[in-house]
Amino acid sequence: GVPSLEERYEESFEIGAAVEPYQLEGIQEEILKHHYNSIVAENVMKPINIQPEEGKFDFEQADKIIQFAKEHDMEIRFHTLVWHSQVPKWFFLDKKGEPMVEATDPKQKRKNKKLLLKRLRKHIKTIVKRYKDDVDSWDVVNEVIDENASNDRGLRESPWYQITGTDYIKVAFETVKKFADEDAMLYINDYNTEVEPKKTFLYNLVNDLLEQGVPIDGIGHQSHIQIGWPSLKEMEDSINMFADLGLDNQITELDVSLYGWPPTPAYKTYKDIPYSEFERQAERYNDIFELYERLDDKISSVTFWGIADNHTWLDDRAEQYNDGVGKDAPFVFDMDYNVKPAYWKIID
Ligand code: G3I
Repeated sequence: GVPSLEERYEESFEIGAAVEPYQLEGIQEEILKHHYNSIVAENVMKPINIQPEEGKFDFEQADKIIQFAKEHDMEIRFHTLVWHSQVPKWFFLDKKGEPMVEATDPKQKRKNKKLLLKRLRKHIKTIVKRYKDDVDSWDVVNEVIDENASNDRGLRESPWYQITGTDYIKVAFETVKKFADEDAMLYINDYNTEVEPKKTFLYNLVNDLLEQGVPIDGIGHQSHIQIGWPSLKEMEDSINMFADLGLDNQITELDVSLYGWPPTPAYKTYKDIPYSEFERQAERYNDIFELYERLDDKISSVTFWGIADNHTWLDDRAEQYNDGVGKDAPFVFDMDYNVKPAYWKIID
């Protein structure tokens, strides 16, 4: 076998992977056991999967990942308690089945806010009580900043925001804190945390919330990055800026796309990708892991958003922007789980 990633970075940070339950067997199981000491669910712990109908919690898929992690002594990141996407519609319907966001009457609006926050508390309490002894890091809220929002604070104008303002964020953190293990870490997770204006919007929000006593422990930097973007300097500045606020940093959804934005033109199949692309990508992996290692007192874990190039959400994106045909290759393991040049760069 090849050297273990987790052992290589043992002194610095955890090495994690996002998985679907089907990936917990066969070769992928072996890879997970050998290279990673942390795990996160790619989809099955999102609100739509855990509480598809009000009061009907379904933990079957989530439990599989928790069990696997416990058997193999891995850390667990919980992704995610609150998000604007993959959240079932019932959350935002009032008792009569009307969309809460359409209410105009002030009294009705107050009722809606109260009901939504009550549902939020119940969702969080039920999950956190179940997994409190297992989860080390909670993605409490995901993607609450939107650089294109029409308000000047960059707050995402999701139903959560329209109905509760920023109270949903506060309530979410406070509820997790109340029921979680005292050593558990609570994160606000987002993408583009390295670049303006998102970085400053996020910083200002977090700073505000901390001043109000909201129990935030760290920033989850999704890090869906490209070979040439963002710059190393931007990444470093962002980590330092949040560390200076007294916060931990985690790299939570790392992948290095071969493409720019938009991802056009894309290679049609994996075989169309020239080897030189993997070498270019390897240099990028080299540089970012060098950076992470240098900042390792400010970064507690680095999680890839998948295991190998045969399973990545980036394929959906490549397809979407290229008339249904496109392939990406963002990881350090290839389609057949063999190591890529990027793997050797981050081992050496
Ligand atoms: O489970 C259904 C299946 O029953 C159905 O047949 C199929 C048809 O499209 O869809 C399946 O659901 C898909 C789900 O992934 C599971 O595969 C959804 O359509 C698809 O939208 C969903 O995509 C996920 C996406 O979040 C949702 O927005 C990706 O796998 C997942 O990688 C991605 O992860 C997000 C993070 O949570 C947050 N940060 C960004 C990151 C990438 O978008």
